[in-house]
This record gives sequence, structure tokens and C-alpha cells, in this order.
Amino acid sequence: MQPKAFIFDLDGVLTDTAEFHYLAWKQIGEQLGIPVDRALNERLKGVSRMESLERILAAAPRPLHLSPGEKEQWATQKNALYQELIETIRPSDRLPGIDGLLNEIRSANILLALGSASRNANLVLERLGLADAFDYIVDAGQIRFGKPHPETFVNAADHFGLPYETCIGVEDSAAGIEAINAAGMFSVGIGSPDALSEAKYRVADTSLLTLGGILEAYGIG
Ligand code: BG6
Ligand code: MG
Repeated sequence: MQPKAFIFDLDGVLTDTAEFHYLAWKQIGEQLGIPVDRALNERLKGVSRMESLERILAAAPRPLHLSPGEKEQWATQKNALYQELIETIRPSDRLPGIDGLLNEIRSANILLALGSASRNANLVLERLGLADAFDYIVDAGQIRFGKPHPETFVNAADHFGLPYETCIGVEDSAAGIEAINAAGMFSVGIGSPDALSEAKYRVADTSLLTLGGILEAYGIG
């Protein structure tokens, strides 16, 4: 059966904001005395701002006990650093292969949703010139449970009134792939096999994404 909808993650899928989240957390980590390396960063991808901070604090060489107010301050500071970094984003920062894939999906009359954990999703979409590219957008403001909980993806399918198995989710994070699988959808991973071993179909980077390749793996190619 032809899939009825694609649900795309934003950060690290449509554009390389995953790197900006990393750079911002790295700076916060330096101020807190906690090294944030790429291995730790892999576990921050896809999870909310506050949960990311909790995971960084859990990696502290010596336990740090911060009050809820202090945590809010660090999270706010991280977001200020992140927002500075995303000021430079332009339509030309869409990752390779994304425009082609979105066009192919549209031409095949398949619905398009965005499912992001970020409260900056609309801002980034605007800067990319993709604010009108999706039929529906779910961001952190609309859901109670972040990835790896399936709510983000389920919310989009429910909005369209579609059975979950007719939807395909596209993600660069382990948390996101877990969420798509838990929703009963077909998961497409972008990144390394180590991080995304649970993806039903995986490519190393976005330039390798084609509708034909995904549909073949989904079972109708
Ligand atoms: C996700 C990113 O898309 O959004 C995470 O993968 C990030 O790294 C999360 O923590 C929340 O983003 P924001 O912009 O609300 O801090
Ligand atoms: Mg992502």
C-alpha cells in the first residue's frame, strides 16, 4: 500500500541545526565543568531542552545539584546561544537532497507533516523558507511527552486521520527512531548505523534520500 503521509523531524534532517544545538550545549558544559563530547551529544539529539540538560548533568564527573530555578537559567542561556547561531540560517542551508525529496513526496500526493521537539521549530522553518511546505506542524508546544515517546508522530497521524502503519517518519536521532517505531510507523534514519540501529531503513546522509529508495524499503518499490 502507498504510504499516506511523511512526518519529518527538523533539526539534523531538514538542516544542520543538530550541530548548533551541540555547539551551544558544549559551551554550557564548559561553564558547568562537564565535557560534552559527540558521544554524549548523540543522546541529546531529539530530546527536549530540559531533558538534554538533565542528561548533561547526569554525565558530570562530580555530582552537581542545581535547583529547578538554576536549571531554568542554564536552559535559557543555552537557548540564547542557540538562537544566536541560527540567525545565519538561509534557504540555502536546507540539507542536500531535501528539496528533491519534498518535491517527490508532493508530486506523489502524499501528505507532509513536521514533527519537532524544538520550541524554535517555526523560527527555523521561516529562515529556511519552508514555513508553508508542510500540511501540518507538531512542535514541543503541542505535546505532553517528548521523543522517544511516540506522541509527536501519533499526533500528526491523528490530525490527518490516518492509520499509523500508513505513515513514514524521518529522523536523525535514536530517540526519534524509537518514537516512530513505538508509534507503529515505518522509520527512516539519517546517520550512522551505531546510533540508528533500530531504523527500518537508513542512509548515511540526506543526499542519499530518494522517494524510490524509501518506498522500496517500505515494501511497495
Ligand atoms: C530537537 C533537537 O529537535 O529539539 C534537540 O534534536 C533539542 O537537540 C530539542 O534539544 C529542543 O529544542 P529547543 O530549540 O526547544 O531547545
Ligand atoms: Mg533531529
